[in-house]
Amino acid sequence: MARGNSSAARTLRSRLTGRRVIVTLGAGGVGKTTTSAALALALAMRGGKVAVVTIDPARRLATALGLENLSGEPHRIDAVALEHAGVELRGELWAMMLDTKATFDAVVERLAPDEASREEILANPVYRELSTAVAGSNELSAVAKLYELHAEHEFDVIVLDTPPSRNALDFLEAPGRLLGFLEGRALQVFLAPGGLTAKLFGRGTALVFAIFARVTGVDMLGELSRFFRSLGGILDGFGERTRVVQQLLRSEQTGFLIVTSPEPEPVREARFLAERLRETGLGEPELIVNRVHLDGLGGRSPEELAERLTDDLGADLARRVASNLADFDVLVRRDEGTVRELEALLGGREPTLVGHLDEEVQDLLGLARIAEQLGV
Ligand SMILES: Nc1ncnc2c1ncn2[C@@H]1O[C@H](COP(=O)(O)OP(=O)(O)O)[C@@H](O)[C@H]1O
Ligand SMILES: [Mg+2]
Repeated sequence: MARGNSSAARTLRSRLTGRRVIVTLGAGGVGKTTTSAALALALAMRGGKVAVVTIDPARRLATALGLENLSGEPHRIDAVALEHAGVELRGELWAMMLDTKATFDAVVERLAPDEASREEILANPVYRELSTAVAGSNELSAVAKLYELHAEHEFDVIVLDTPPSRNALDFLEAPGRLLGFLEGRALQVFLAPGGLTAKLFGRGTALVFAIFARVTGVDMLGELSRFFRSLGGILDGFGERTRVVQQLLRSEQTGFLIVTSPEPEPVREARFLAERLRETGLGEPELIVNRVHLDGLGGRSPEELAERLTDDLGADLARRVASNLADFDVLVRRDEGTVRELEALLGGREPTLVGHLDEEVQDLLGLARIAEQLGV
């Protein structure tokens, strides 16, 4: 495949100009976390103050980014460590790992009106359950964190790696769902004093809860209603934050970047995501095709290539190298076909290609090799 990624890379650069938030989307395992970190690195190399918020970095990459302690706060990557990897940073690179519970706790701590209600919420078993296990809490905490990073730190760009979820767009819908819940009837009923049990659950359910409480010693309903009452004090603040994030995600300041590999399944997911983004009016996404096989025979026959390599390698080795590259060429051509299809998906714009590296990307050097290919 032609190595001419430069024109696509230039367009990626120009298309990302002016974005304050870049949300990466894509199927699991395609290199979404890796490319998010590499993109942040590339932007920081150009001179910006850039943060990457990762969700599930592979262990060694997390170590390389200094993320092994789950502080849930952004952490600046040491420029000297980057210099060792041959990277000259004109700006600043920050990284953080999203930690759902820590993020929720921080929001409660900040918004609770006083010490007592803060302690009450944090200690509540229902809260603990909600903030760790409940579906969607990942997305909600990403929303909360995004608000904090956007509003309270002066980052030029935040690259947000979205959580793996059943539906990759859950994240985008999280603010709306949360607002619906905060402003909806269910919560109002909970917060209304008196008659709660009967109103919400009816007598039969209340009885089940009562028996459950007697048998297990856990007063679920009591905990629930205490929880939502204590939450009352922070709801307005949380609703306001959610609205800000919702607006931010819908504004020109936010860009969406779909990451895929050339495999059929992730490509299907990429199509689906692009369509959903258009449908929801979130605009035209950018596309990175990662793990593309780029170097095959370069349009030559194996014999031609063997002949060209003979001076350097000797006839025998040259033949074997050419034969290996001929095998590889099958993948190169398959990927070329896939990239052309994806171009059509982008209305003829070229996606940005990142080559399939021989090794996993697990340190700053590996990230720099990917960042280079983004050409941002
Ligand atoms: N261009 C690439 N070449 C080789 N390995 C890659 C490339 N991009 C990612 N990887 C490797 O693929 C694995 C999955 O990457 P990761 O970024 O964690 O995927 P995701 O976040 O999409 O699940 C990691 O081991 C990573 O090192
Ligand atoms: Mg990931």
